[in-house]
Amino acid sequence: MGKLHDQALLKYASYWQGNWQSAARSFNVTNPANGEIIGTVADATAADAKKAVAAADTAQADWAARPAAERAKLLMRWQQLMLEHQDDLGLLLTLEQGKPLAEAKGEIAYGASYLEWFAEEAKRVYGDTIPAKSSDQRIIVLKQPVGVVAAITPWNFPNAMIARKAAAALAAGCTFVVKPAQLTPLSALAMAELADRAGIPAGVFNVVVSTDAKAIGKVLTEDPRVAKFSFTGSTNIGKQLAKQCADTVKRVSLELGGNAPFIVFDDADLDAAIDGLMASKFRNAGQTCVCTNRILVQDRVLDAFTEKLQQAIGKLKLGNGTDDKVDIGPLISDEACDKVDELLQQATENGAKVHCGGKRQAADSLFYLPTLVTGVNNDMALAQQEIFGPVAAIQSFNDEAEAIKLANATEFGLAAYFYSRDIGRIWRAAEGLHYGMVGVNEGMISNPVAPFGGVKQSGYGREGSKYGLADYMDIKYLCLGGLDK
Ligand code: SIN
Repeated sequence: MGKLHDQALLKYASYWQGNWQSAARSFNVTNPANGEIIGTVADATAADAKKAVAAADTAQADWAARPAAERAKLLMRWQQLMLEHQDDLGLLLTLEQGKPLAEAKGEIAYGASYLEWFAEEAKRVYGDTIPAKSSDQRIIVLKQPVGVVAAITPWNFPNAMIARKAAAALAAGCTFVVKPAQLTPLSALAMAELADRAGIPAGVFNVVVSTDAKAIGKVLTEDPRVAKFSFTGSTNIGKQLAKQCADTVKRVSLELGGNAPFIVFDDADLDAAIDGLMASKFRNAGQTCVCTNRILVQDRVLDAFTEKLQQAIGKLKLGNGTDDKVDIGPLISDEACDKVDELLQQATENGAKVHCGGKRQAADSLFYLPTLVTGVNNDMALAQQEIFGPVAAIQSFNDEAEAIKLANATEFGLAAYFYSRDIGRIWRAAEGLHYGMVGVNEGMISNPVAPFGGVKQSGYGREGSKYGLADYMDIKYLCLGGLDK
């Protein structure tokens, strides 16, 4: 693998209680661009996960008791170290995940921005006083950390999804245990190394790396010492994990699958819509939960828009993320490529037309050609399941009401996008779309100041913003009585 400036960022073992922990077994982490092994990592067990939870539990009281300003300082130091090592962290991320280097470095900055935002927010956790019903009482509301937080994070954002959860948890005064995806553990372990260097106390930030997702997930969702569980990943797994949390009545946040519509109304600025769509569709090769999944274009502008889109797609460069000027890297696995193939095959069998792409670059590679497909309808699996690949799938609509109806005809409700210049239509569509996040004339909506999260089967809870911090805090009400003389 390419050499990092700071080789000490390469860690191959889980981290809890401020120590790197060995294990009896290990597994390989490979580069999806070429199959090369980039590291061999100790494979933690359920018993190890319990030890990590115990470490977090032991550290909890001291961490919660520290002044918010002190926690904020440590988070800021961690953020600075992430930015100082942005090149190394970006390279590591590209090597294990595949996304182009520029995008990977962008993810490091994105992850670091959550540390900064929540470090600042930590200092602004205000309580309340409420006028009491009787003169001898006073009513006060305190906000306190929920306690130990456990998280399971996905491979598509190996840094930012951990940073987004950990920053909020630590800012609120919670300790944290994360199980990163087994495909991309090295970014998580490098984060732990930097947390350590930043002076985050032992037991506050813990990483459990394992191939046994089921066993680790069971510990993190069932252990009574864990007060809150946060998950980013597929809807099916999220449902199962939420059920497992029920017995100990944990607070749960779920950021699950999406099926984002991208609506182009006939009054839209088509060039702006193309720019927004390219960003929203092809980021991370189409492997994000907020990626556009369905492109809905009004009949009157369908031909013009399709032509512009085909031209834009034609300019995309596919290749190894470490090569210069690459826009799209490999998909994460063979199964991911197979799934895209199957969705496209079912769509074409039912009348959709592939204009470009539609297959892997070479039979044995994970590079999937940027694809444009038209004639899609909402009944196709391509329009109902997350594609998680570089496929732009266009369907058409006749009027505004039909667009909103089609857009909402899915069990998911994470992100939606639309382009229009009519202020009345903008309000009607923004209010009519049943989604947690709506980009209006904007294809890139993720940032730390905004509440990220979905409705319907895309989950619940919010990450980022003041709402994201509230998810890690309990409200306690104090009733002071007997105050009259
Ligand atoms: C995701 O795909 O789950 C996260 C995407 C983002 O934060 O923009």
